[in-house]
Amino acid sequence: MSARTCLAIVLAAGEGTRMRSARPKVLHALAGRSLLAHVLAALQAAGGTRTAVVVGPAHDAVAAEARAQLPEAQVFVQSERRGTAHAVLAARRAIARGADDILVIFGDTPLIRPQTLQKLRSALADGAAVAVLGFRPADPAGYGRLLTHGAELLAIVEDADASASERAITLCNGGLVAFSGKTALAILEKIDCNNRKGEFYLTDAVAIARGMKLPAVALEVTEDEVSGINSKAQLAAAEAVMQQRLRQAALEAGVTLVAPETVYLAADTKLGKDVVIEPYVVFGPGVVVEQGATIRSFSHVQGAHVGKDAIVGPFARLRPGAKLEQDVHIGNFVEVKEALIEAGAKANHLSYIGDARVGAGANVGAGTITCNYDGEAKHRTDIGKGAFIGSNAALVAPVKIGDGAYVGSGSVITGDVPADSLALGRARQVVKEGWVKRLRGLKSLGKKAAQASD
Ligand code: UD1
Ligand code: MG
Repeated sequence: MSARTCLAIVLAAGEGTRMRSARPKVLHALAGRSLLAHVLAALQAAGGTRTAVVVGPAHDAVAAEARAQLPEAQVFVQSERRGTAHAVLAARRAIARGADDILVIFGDTPLIRPQTLQKLRSALADGAAVAVLGFRPADPAGYGRLLTHGAELLAIVEDADASASERAITLCNGGLVAFSGKTALAILEKIDCNNRKGEFYLTDAVAIARGMKLPAVALEVTEDEVSGINSKAQLAAAEAVMQQRLRQAALEAGVTLVAPETVYLAADTKLGKDVVIEPYVVFGPGVVVEQGATIRSFSHVQGAHVGKDAIVGPFARLRPGAKLEQDVHIGNFVEVKEALIEAGAKANHLSYIGDARVGAGANVGAGTITCNYDGEAKHRTDIGKGAFIGSNAALVAPVKIGDGAYVGSGSVITGDVPADSLALGRARQVVKEGWVKRLRGLKSLGKKAAQASD
């Protein structure tokens, strides 16, 4: 793309009543990231845009999410919900600053691809004053219809205002509109609210541009790119499309997904070459898996870094701050949180490792627990290089196990263990020989006495 400047205006002032949720619509998540964040990411990937986000009056959380995702985004408040063109004009100050291209994009259209945004901008570079996206939905009800004459776009008629013959048109408006910056304000200011809904329709821009002898065009895209999310059912359908895209991208990047349809990825999941993901694995946000690592079935991984050739699962849980170095093994029913597991260390069965470091080559036995929380504060456990923690040990933090030290199984360890030492933190075993035999003898004596007195 040339050095044309661009302003993107993201409309996110809608109430989203059909989601039946206390949360604003654009803050619902798809592949571990908000709808709004998906749209902002597509804009960033398309490149070269200033971004304005239009939010509703009670939408501080939406403004906060916009700023968190894109600190330079300008936030504008549309105080009354009077239609899509009215919403765009809430960002009038940003438009007035000037840009070659102005992209209006909906905050609830998270499947839009960066390439499509670039295509819209190319249409402007080729001389269009207004460019829109057309698509042919299975059911066109509710969508604006594109009135065309050959390749020319004449107007958009909203469903509520359309005649029966206009409703028969199958080419619909995807919603996004691109304007040439030179004429955008002049067109937007001519839009009125003389229609069925009494709203300022952004779609009127097409007929107005033609009235001003300015060219308008439509580009056709597939339905999944422009499908807006209004309900939980549509959110679930979009999740399926997004997962399909993410799985496809992972396969193309050289990842082995044994049963792709059972693996759930987050939008930011990073999987290296020759990584193997077995069936039924779920990734939350913030995961990196390095080359050659294997994630076995039924594992849940979030905010974690898995090093080269490591093996995780089956049935493992990696929580935020879990950092596994090369060749680490984390086995079944092991939970790791905020912990560095150094190269070659192993925790293969039934453990909780939180707020800890496990030194290189250390072995954490079955059932070991780092007791990191005392009811008020979290404390750290430090396990040295090559240490051996026997099964079912409770390491009461803060505590330090030195390099090469042994902890006996069943120990409750409350004090530091020096390097190369053995710590046994448990009651000594007592054996009372013949005790059970004597007990049985007493019982049978008691029975005989009772029978004699009957
Ligand atoms: C819009 C289009 C329609 C198109 C459809 C595609 C208009 C007039 N109609 O209709 O042609 O087929 O999208 O999905 O543009 N918003 C605000 N403030 C407002 C009104 C809306 O911020 O005052 C935001 C909403 O949050 C949403 C977007 O604008 O993100 C679209 O609004 P919506 O009411 O969903 O428009 P549709 O009726 O679906
Ligand atoms: Mg809509």
